[in-house]
Amino acid sequence: MNGIEQDRAQTAAPATAPIGLPVEIGDDGIVTLRLGRSDERVVTITPERMSDLAAALDRIASDTRVRGVIVTGPNLPAEGPGMFCAGADIQLIDSIADAAAGEAAATRGRTLLARLQQLRVPVVAAIDGPCLGGGCELALFCDVRLATDEPGTQIGLPEVKLGILPGFGGTQTLPRLLGLPKALDLILTGRLLRGKQALRTGLVDRLVPRTKLLAAARAEVEKLAAKDRKRPARRLRGLAFWLSKTPLRWFAARAATQQLQRGPGRFYPAPHAALQSCLNAFTMPVEQGFAAEARQLGRLVVTPISKGLLRLFFLTERSKRLGKHDAARDLQRALVVGGGVMGAGIACELAQRGLAVRLCDLDLQALVRGKARLGKELDKRVRRKRLTAPEAMAIQDRLQASTEWGHLRDTDLWLEAVVEDLQVKRKLMGLAIERGLPEHAVLATNTSSLSVTAMAEGLPHPERVVGIHFFNPPEKMPLVEVIRGATTDDATVATACRLAVRMGKFPVVVGDAPGFLVNRCLAPYLNEAARLVLEGTAPEAVDKAMLDLGMPMGPCRLLDEVGFDVATKVSEVLQNGFPERMQPCELFAAMAGAGLLGQKTGGGIYGKDGKRPGPGRKVIAELRAAHGTPGREASRSEIVQRLIYPMVDEAYRCVDEGIVAHEDDVDLGLVMGIGFPPFTGGITRYARREGLSTIVHALDELARLHGPRFEVSDGMRRRATS
Ligand SMILES: NC(=O)c1ccc[n+]([C@@H]2O[C@H](COP(=O)([O-])OP(=O)(O)OC[C@H]3O[C@@H](n4cnc5c(N)ncnc54)[C@H](O)[C@@H]3O)[C@@H](O)[C@H]2O)c1
Repeated sequence: MNGIEQDRAQTAAPATAPIGLPVEIGDDGIVTLRLGRSDERVVTITPERMSDLAAALDRIASDTRVRGVIVTGPNLPAEGPGMFCAGADIQLIDSIADAAAGEAAATRGRTLLARLQQLRVPVVAAIDGPCLGGGCELALFCDVRLATDEPGTQIGLPEVKLGILPGFGGTQTLPRLLGLPKALDLILTGRLLRGKQALRTGLVDRLVPRTKLLAAARAEVEKLAAKDRKRPARRLRGLAFWLSKTPLRWFAARAATQQLQRGPGRFYPAPHAALQSCLNAFTMPVEQGFAAEARQLGRLVVTPISKGLLRLFFLTERSKRLGKHDAARDLQRALVVGGGVMGAGIACELAQRGLAVRLCDLDLQALVRGKARLGKELDKRVRRKRLTAPEAMAIQDRLQASTEWGHLRDTDLWLEAVVEDLQVKRKLMGLAIERGLPEHAVLATNTSSLSVTAMAEGLPHPERVVGIHFFNPPEKMPLVEVIRGATTDDATVATACRLAVRMGKFPVVVGDAPGFLVNRCLAPYLNEAARLVLEGTAPEAVDKAMLDLGMPMGPCRLLDEVGFDVATKVSEVLQNGFPERMQPCELFAAMAGAGLLGQKTGGGIYGKDGKRPGPGRKVIAELRAAHGTPGREASRSEIVQRLIYPMVDEAYRCVDEGIVAHEDDVDLGLVMGIGFPPFTGGITRYARREGLSTIVHALDELARLHGPRFEVSDGMRRRATS
């Protein structure tokens, strides 16, 4: 660096204290303004950082030697993970308690960032690493944006995922830069773009290798400074022009509105407010548009929906930290036994996360299908340009499929996903040890209902036996229950959590009891849905009531997806564990007995398309007739009370029995495991909002009408009265 002046941060300063931003003014009059200190891993926007940025901008504006500015993260060109700016500090967003304070914070932030645009000299953003939310809005006020195509470079405005909208000007600047359709696509979904995608969209102007980023930014500044000007605003052309700057924008707005009304968007006010705000960018004077955006931010940030989503964000961060435990080890070589629905999916995921995997099954066809499944997934990623062809080939090579286990001496993860049978699983674990599985290796089971403690019994080193329960399909489902058996040690639990985090999942540590957490809470819900159907309520009505509540899928459709064979098996285990309240509905066995397992046999309650009535309606009609059911349609509120309230009670039982350590685990587990509506902030938050005493009262009444399966636990009753 050829600097004549350099301000360095006091490296020991706590993040909340004013830190001073490193401002380097070169001999050529080009300033490098770093958004954080060199030792900061994550740069967020805090009030202190805003004061620092204001001070830095004052200095730059008043120094006549300055010819241009490069804004960049704290550590370029040093090695290591990149970081531009991860946006506003989420703790601070969460702490905003009234709308006026939210509006004022947004106005302050936007006014400050807009000063970059108001500088008389050109400003170039050099982006490597996360450039999110307020960080992205900052970059949008720069004249030129250069970025790297490193895997860590992600650019976007994810605010709607926290129940708010971009409040530092993003809903005004992005639509003007990209046009309404592209801006809506990004802002209403909160989608993040990698370098290449950002270039294609027009969000960045050029991609540059990391080592050349600062030099390229300097050249851009020079180019503009030589002409003594800022870059003129980019003009929208073609369709982007017509759908933004003319009344035809109504079409873009209508398409976005329809999309929001169809999907889960209907439960969230933020995307609707963001849509209106983006439209303002073309219909209001600039300052008025900014002011309206800030007002909306203030309104949204104090809603329970935003608070619920923020809470979930913190819970996911907490879950990720489980993988950082000191005792956790990194696993490198895995043997997955059982290449069916789950085993093949898990093996594919492990290979994609860098482990060398052997997938073994007795059935050669299962192995062929397993390899093909990975091939299909990789092809998709190559087509979407998320992966290069050589990278995909390397992943393919990491997954070996065989009917033989081969030698085990290098294996550090042995995981079984064979049939749900305790004896078979125990036998295979014993065999793994006989065949020389190293002592340090983790012995894991993907069981969805069997006892991990029973599996470990009699094995040498039972402390390394653990449940790593993935959900179906493992490629998509974000939750992993890490099951601690009675003998499992902390290091094994931590290692399993680290593996889950490495796979991009959220681990929740659960105790070894029937159904663990998620299936246990799900069982009363599915059972009761089937009972309502047998009593005469249409499956469509049951499903609609749950969809209207925000569940991603109705319980009857879910039963078809899970399969009535699996539902029968899991409910047997739960019935044994909790006979007084988990008697399975007879519909499960009847459907399984008739060979109508659900989607896997071409239809169950619904047909193959998952919409029209399926072959299982005949079974339902027969059972109704056998019971002489009068065909009573339950009301929406009865459906909610009978399906959701017992789940609430079961969730609190799991906390009280120590199946999970904290209510937070229940909330994260059920949102990630069954899609309990995220905007509620989790089932315990939902319950508190409904009123615990209301729920207890309703359950008491249901117990009087239908029997002990609705009986309220002592813990729940105590909470309701406290
Ligand atoms: N399917 C789900 O939704 C789901 C979800 C979570 C957990 N699970 C659990 O995952 C496990 C597997 O379930 P699945 O749905 O993938 O079953 P699956 O029937 O699709 O696959 C089981 C595979 O194991 C193979 N197998 C059986 N015995 C074997 C042996 N001795 N050696 C090697 N391979 C053997 C079979 O050939 C079959 O390919 C079960 O414990 C299940 O409870 C299932």
